[in-house]
Amino acid sequence: MSRELLVTGGAGFIGSNFVHHLVARTDARVTVLDKLTYAGNPASLAGMPEDRVRLAQGDIADAALVEELVAPMTGEDDAIVHYAAESHNDNSLSDPSPFLQTNLIGTYTLLEAARRHGTRLHHISTDEVYGDLELDDPERFTEATPYNPSSPYSSTKAGSDLLVRAWVRSFGVRATISNCSNNYGPRQHVEKFIPRQITNVIDGVRPRLYGAGLNVRDWIHADDHSSAVLTILERGALGETYLIGADGEQNNKQVVEMILRLMGEDPDAYDHVVDRPGHDLRYAIDPTRMRTELGWEPAYRDFESGLAATIDWYRGNEAWWRPQKAATEAKYATTGH
Ligand code: NAD
Ligand code: DAU
Repeated sequence: MSRELLVTGGAGFIGSNFVHHLVARTDARVTVLDKLTYAGNPASLAGMPEDRVRLAQGDIADAALVEELVAPMTGEDDAIVHYAAESHNDNSLSDPSPFLQTNLIGTYTLLEAARRHGTRLHHISTDEVYGDLELDDPERFTEATPYNPSSPYSSTKAGSDLLVRAWVRSFGVRATISNCSNNYGPRQHVEKFIPRQITNVIDGVRPRLYGAGLNVRDWIHADDHSSAVLTILERGALGETYLIGADGEQNNKQVVEMILRLMGEDPDAYDHVVDRPGHDLRYAIDPTRMRTELGWEPAYRDFESGLAATIDWYRGNEAWWRPQKAATEAKYATTGH
């Protein structure tokens, strides 16, 4: 019998990528549990076979609904793969409250269901739990780096990781955690850096760079994140944490200039705007453990060609992103970003 997976947040950017990945590469049957917040879009699951993927609209903090979905998952390989979160730092600075509710209470609710039913859980987290690095720091983040989050978003993600670790140790929950770096690719909400700038350029609006633009992010294609998560589900050791990254460090200025160049514009045609409060300077993942212990390798080796394909996707899929664009920019206008 094929395995049953409950993918929370599967209508979001990375969760939907994982559902596409599962359908293409496994025979798993998938229930997506997604609240369909402003960030969730059922169109991201368009084309998925109905006999393998079903969407249950609901809140991960709804204990009765979670119980109903988890109780029947009795197979040894069945698992909850937990992507659902409030995910945007800028939003967490304007209003932290949904971040506490979803990222902490939501994760707690899933852990309790996993505890009651002995269900495997894989928790998707972020490199931001480790805080930031100096630009010239020779050490990158590893599984041993102490937690030091900066924002309401990253502190609630850190808290959710610690809940998972505590439920593993105190209750024997069969869980793993992964902390990944910045993802890019198709179907990312236009509030995020890369899609915001691509869609601005499409609209004839100058890209907007926070501060001097020297902050470094470690970019990985969402397809590579999905292949890494599937590898952990198949070969990861219970109770362990794995860092996922693809050696993709770029500063924001380099990325904006690359987008402009790839879109046929003057690479200097962008504006510097007010910086993000508490803006983390640099993230960088040391992915040695994923590679040596689990044998995982990223497929995307060239950021520029991955970015060019992402630009093509946004050019070809305006119907997907257009409904969110005006409201997103109106929200940014209130903070000067
Ligand atoms: P996203 O904002 O695009 O999607 C989040 C999804 O979760 C949406 O579909 C939303 O409707 C759903 N959701 C939100 N609250 C919910 C709730 N209470 N109950 C059920 N569903 C709910 O986010 P993303 O960028 O795809 O990130 C997914 C996960 O990956 C998050 O846990 C995030 O912390 C983590 N992550 C993201 C990145 C990145 O670069 N985007 C990197 C590393 C880790
Ligand atoms: O590192 C993983 C994290 O990456 C994930 O945990 C988060 O869910 C995800 O949103 C992302 O967080 P960032 O804050 O790094 O991503 P964001 O796309 O918001 O911004 C990337 C960088 O670009 C950051 O340094 C801020 C900057 N920025 C962002 C926007 C939206 C700009 O300069 N201009 C912009 O318009």
